[in-house]
Amino acid sequence: MCGIVGYAGRQQALPLLLEGLKKLEYRGYDSAGIAVVEEAGRLALRKREGKIALLEADLNGDFPPGTTGIGHTRWATHGAPTDTNAHPHLDCMGRIAVVHNGIIENYLELRRELAARGHRLVSDTDTEVIPHLIEDCYEGDLLAALRRVVPLLRGSYALAVVAAAEPGRVVAARRDSPLIVGLAAEENFLASDIPAVLSATRRTYILDDGDLADVRPDGVFVCDVTGCRRDKRVFEVKWDAAQAEKAPYAHFMLKEIHEQPKALQDTMRGRLTRAEVVFPELKLDPAVFKSCKRLFVTACGTAYHAGLIGKTLIERLARLPVEVEIASEFRYREPLIGPGDVLVVISQSGETADTLAAMRGARAKGAAAIAITNVVGSSVAREADEVLHTWAGPEIAVASTKAYVAQVLVLTLFAVYLAKERRTVPPELSKELISEIPRLPEYAAEMLAREDEIAALAAAHKGEEHTFFIGRGLDWAVACEGALKLKEISYIHAEAYAAGELKHGTLALVTEGVPVIALATQPALYEKMLSNIKEVKARGARVMAVTTETAGNIAQVADAVVSLPPVHPLLAPAIAVIPLQLFAYHAAVARGCDVDKPRNLAKSVTVE
Ligand code: AGP
Repeated sequence: MCGIVGYAGRQQALPLLLEGLKKLEYRGYDSAGIAVVEEAGRLALRKREGKIALLEADLNGDFPPGTTGIGHTRWATHGAPTDTNAHPHLDCMGRIAVVHNGIIENYLELRRELAARGHRLVSDTDTEVIPHLIEDCYEGDLLAALRRVVPLLRGSYALAVVAAAEPGRVVAARRDSPLIVGLAAEENFLASDIPAVLSATRRTYILDDGDLADVRPDGVFVCDVTGCRRDKRVFEVKWDAAQAEKAPYAHFMLKEIHEQPKALQDTMRGRLTRAEVVFPELKLDPAVFKSCKRLFVTACGTAYHAGLIGKTLIERLARLPVEVEIASEFRYREPLIGPGDVLVVISQSGETADTLAAMRGARAKGAAAIAITNVVGSSVAREADEVLHTWAGPEIAVASTKAYVAQVLVLTLFAVYLAKERRTVPPELSKELISEIPRLPEYAAEMLAREDEIAALAAAHKGEEHTFFIGRGLDWAVACEGALKLKEISYIHAEAYAAGELKHGTLALVTEGVPVIALATQPALYEKMLSNIKEVKARGARVMAVTTETAGNIAQVADAVVSLPPVHPLLAPAIAVIPLQLFAYHAAVARGCDVDKPRNLAKSVTVE
């Protein structure tokens, strides 16, 4: 959802801005631009439609020098991805430049007011009102002007602003869109995310909602809208820049798929003893879990699919009813949630606008929120009552993979933990799970070792335009994730269906040659799945089965089989998804798709 960078220092800003933007390209990539304050006190601006590589090629080393600047990589919301709509945007005189991530909801009203005052706006964006509003308030002090403008804006924003008259100064403001500060010697940075500053510094802090920042080479001052200083806690980033590089893999997605054994290992570390699951970070009185009548789970996309797995496991093990709902629906449904209720919020990035809003709404009604997130210090992590981190490491590819398996693992551990607190699970089952969970990384590695086999099946699939994914119970939830992966990166239309529901309508679409991917990892449901596979085969479908069944009954009817290691049925989702991720990846590569930058999408969805 747009990436922004800012630099004030002693070095040339341009290469640093471009380097930072490349690290943020996962956030959006339909256009890019930069503005640098020239020594002469003018603004140099270059922006264009397309990816950052095109902007860089355009610049071709031909750009005025300057040691202060801002940059932007865009995911279009208001206005098509064109050169004009690309950021930075300027005021009438071309003396103030702004980059923005978020949405200014009252921009039409502001635009009308500006037009009435004689301002000429040239783009279709919501952002462009900001430099013009600043222009009206500017009296030689950019921070003072921004402090007057911020109260006029409704919506979400992370803003970085430079003025031609003030070299050596970038000012910023944040509300509901992420923004971090990077501190180094005689130079300081602003960015939407940490990877953008990591090659220069690990010393950083996160700006909070309502913060304004004045970034100069020799220091950063943070204040609120009244100008009152706000102290920030600097922290040292633990992971290094190499973790945010894809080499030696061709794509971040492939690298992250291969990091899954480690993500599983790191996520279970410290949470399993010989006899039980522990969450040392959880401060909530466990009595809450005994007394609460149901749990709510909310999330978007892949994280929602992890939530579906969580529901089944929590209901099965902890005998606690779980309502799981997409955050964009949950937040507007006026859910019946209140004091004494617990909402589990799942978000890799911890910045997804709908998820964050759903959590805020539930907390405002008195519910407690437990966040499952991969990003330490993210908005969701900071605002939740409790945080259970997934330790998957930075996930850059738009298609979420390792974060999903880590979310599924945390939810599995949480289900076992709740079952212990509520005394609802037979001790043998609990023991079985606790001894089997540590084997997940090894099973994941086993699946990854069979990448070639899956790549061959995926390559044969490259000409398809439709695919059905079917399964029952936990397998249906995994099927939902498999279908989403295939859609988002290969652009093959895919639909996940509960296998038993096909005959109620959708079976009409299963005709000669239609590809069906059937999951069967639940022994109690093997026979039912076998019948469903036979039903689609009888209509001419070509079936690829993904199964733990070893008797060979499914293998006999399917056209291709991907056999899974002997994983416990309740733990199967984290392993069964791996061949589906690899399948989607290799199908997308075979179709020539830009795997890490799928069309129309962005990694962190910070707008509604
Ligand atoms: C996954 O492949 C997606 N690109 C997307 O569905 C994602 O899971 C969703 O936007 C939620 O993101 P979050 O986990 O960062 O909140």
